[in-house]
Amino acid sequence: MLRMVDLILKKRAGSAHTEDEISFIIGGTMNDSIPDYQLSAWLMAVCLKGMNIDETAYMTNALLHSGQVLDLSSIGPIVGDKHSTGGVGDKTTLVLIPLLSAAGLPMAKLSGRALGHTGGTIDKLEAIPGFRTELSTQEFVAQIKKIGLAICGQTADLAPADGRLYALRDVTGTVESVPLIASSILSKKFAAGTNLIILDVKCGSGAFMKSESEAKALAQTMEEVGKRLKRPVTALVTNMDQPLGNAIGNTLEIIESIETLQGKGPKDLLELCLTFGSLALVKADICKTDKEAHSKLLDVIKNGQALKSLSQMIEAQGGNCEVINDFSLMPTAKQQTDYYDSTISGEQWLKTLDAKTVAEACKIMGAGRTRKGESINLAVGIKLKAKVGDKVSSQKPLATIYYDTTEQFAAASQILEKAFQFSKTEIIPLPVVNSPIFA
Ligand code: URA
Repeated sequence: MLRMVDLILKKRAGSAHTEDEISFIIGGTMNDSIPDYQLSAWLMAVCLKGMNIDETAYMTNALLHSGQVLDLSSIGPIVGDKHSTGGVGDKTTLVLIPLLSAAGLPMAKLSGRALGHTGGTIDKLEAIPGFRTELSTQEFVAQIKKIGLAICGQTADLAPADGRLYALRDVTGTVESVPLIASSILSKKFAAGTNLIILDVKCGSGAFMKSESEAKALAQTMEEVGKRLKRPVTALVTNMDQPLGNAIGNTLEIIESIETLQGKGPKDLLELCLTFGSLALVKADICKTDKEAHSKLLDVIKNGQALKSLSQMIEAQGGNCEVINDFSLMPTAKQQTDYYDSTISGEQWLKTLDAKTVAEACKIMGAGRTRKGESINLAVGIKLKAKVGDKVSSQKPLATIYYDTTEQFAAASQILEKAFQFSKTEIIPLPVVNSPIFA
């Protein structure tokens, strides 16, 4: 008979678990027969000693089957999903889901709220008056069948064992582990029933994976687990040293997503969405080549179909789709003031724009949570006016701060000061997508 203490000792010694042992641990997590202290000790042993691909695949499979598994086959043969490991200013989902749906790929997206310093799509969508972020499984499936897309919050019925383990990891210093992150993310994606999964593995100061080698290891592990469980997963590593796009903050990010679907978005955000979008269209056999997919995506932006998809989704989920024409219908900050750095001498180049620091400046104004369940200020945020590689001077604003009170402005400016570093010589920014496409 298996005993949890023996499994902790086994992992502590660096040995690999069998499938039965992993099933025992996840079963015990679900029926509460394994106490939190033993699970925590085991999680720490996994963090320190790791898990091989077989163990990670067993773990993903066990978590996936710990709850409901959705069947989306009635929607069509291929239903896509996109997931990011979390970043700052990362509104890719809000652009990519309508974009791909308009290009003919049904998209079923379950999203989360902000985690740590990273933003969450569900919080951002709540800036749209009336928008329902909670849909029943039947509503979710029916909406995708009817209009080709839905984005809603994750239900507790999908991979519930991950919910319990995640809560323990959050408070026991055991979040940052490639096999634990890979199995946690993939089990939820697979339980949601999608069969074309593209993963945006963020890397850099604003991401959970700080180094490229860690991010690559996570990307490769997730692709390999996908292969073993016969669910195609494609993961690309993308840069998160500076925020994505210009807007950080909930309403501001909805506005920037709408502008991107109107063909007026920032270059880096558009590039990322076109890269992931092309990859998905080729994988789904909707387009033969990356080039064909690229122009199809640009076409649905130009002819307004991508924006129409977003509008249909907002309407289907009870939101006021007039927000697309009138941004003032969303929570709006009382004041906005440009932020300058008076210490820049002459003309220089922006060398670094630290994503995590920008996120902290937004968080101190209330754009993110400091405690679970806390309500957030959807209106406040920061709009960047310079990105890495741009020419800057003391006369040009580096950003605009959106705030309600002067205290918020003072606190955010003080933090923001630390986000920027300058260079007297030209700076070439890093590419947005780090890993080669279709590698
Ligand atoms: N997101 C998840 O869902 N799980 C992790 O472990 C990390 C990020």
